[in-house]
Amino acid sequence: MLDRILTVRVDRITRLTPEVSSFELVHPAGRPLPAYEAGAHIDVHLPGGFMRTYSLASAPRPGSGQARYVIGVKREPASRGGSAALHERVRAGDLLAVGSPRNTFPLHAGARHHLLLAGGIGLTPLLAMAQQLAAEGAAFTLCVFARSRALLPFADDLAALGQAVRLHLDDRAAPEKLDLRALLGPSAPAPGTHLYLCGPAGFMQAALEAARHWDEDRIHLEYFAPPAQAAGEAEDRPFVLKLARRGIEVPVAADASAVDALHDLGIDVPTSCAQGLCGTCVVPWTGGEPEHRDHCLSATERRHKLALCCSRAKSAVLEVDL
Ligand code: FES
Repeated sequence: MLDRILTVRVDRITRLTPEVSSFELVHPAGRPLPAYEAGAHIDVHLPGGFMRTYSLASAPRPGSGQARYVIGVKREPASRGGSAALHERVRAGDLLAVGSPRNTFPLHAGARHHLLLAGGIGLTPLLAMAQQLAAEGAAFTLCVFARSRALLPFADDLAALGQAVRLHLDDRAAPEKLDLRALLGPSAPAPGTHLYLCGPAGFMQAALEAARHWDEDRIHLEYFAPPAQAAGEAEDRPFVLKLARRGIEVPVAADASAVDALHDLGIDVPTSCAQGLCGTCVVPWTGGEPEHRDHCLSATERRHKLALCCSRAKSAVLEVDL
């Protein structure tokens, strides 16, 4: 379920690499689209009944409305769903339904330096963030990891960011490679630096391993898919969800999510990914002890928010602001 659905027209499709195309989406009547922040994503409803979430890959323009949304979509070789539908069935001029932009991957306003690490198509939200930081004159470095120059999407946009961009190309010699341990290792981080990571699971795991000594409040993550579950992860236990504003208690069975239990009672909670990735179902929690299982909230946010689609409770009762 989505909070708001917009109809957009596909204005332009550009092949950026053999695998990646950009799709530029505009209002069908030429009106401004809702504003967004760098790092935001939209849900895109596709032919065939698929819904996929894509980050917005260009910095928002200042002001209240946007002329266009730009998404970068990699055609996954094994795809029979979302990316294949966009690449094969969507053409310029088509109308698509999209959700209004949401941001669970914002820039940290207090950072003195922003270190943005992009793996593959994980570049998309970080490119928008880098463009916004460049426009603001803020200090940042965007490190982009790609297999080769031919497979590097948004190359012109990266070139426009100049010296703030550092490229790692797998097929090049050492001078054109970046060492994650050198970037993130014991001599890092400089005071006030915030780290932002987006990319495939292996890239995220390697970067987090190299950054394991960083203060977790200074690491911000955006996953494409839930990381593999750690062996021995806690089992699902039943708990009671107390709705503070309604003054009612809702039992959540071991084999159900909090969202399931609320929907069974007719209580409307917006959801989208149902995997802890998108942040649509995030609400404030006010009592008890949550067992966070999302992949979208920072350590700081988890102190007062939780994702209802996946998180559970360590305490018998968990109170939320609903
Ligand atoms: S619905 Fe996406 S995080 Fe819960």
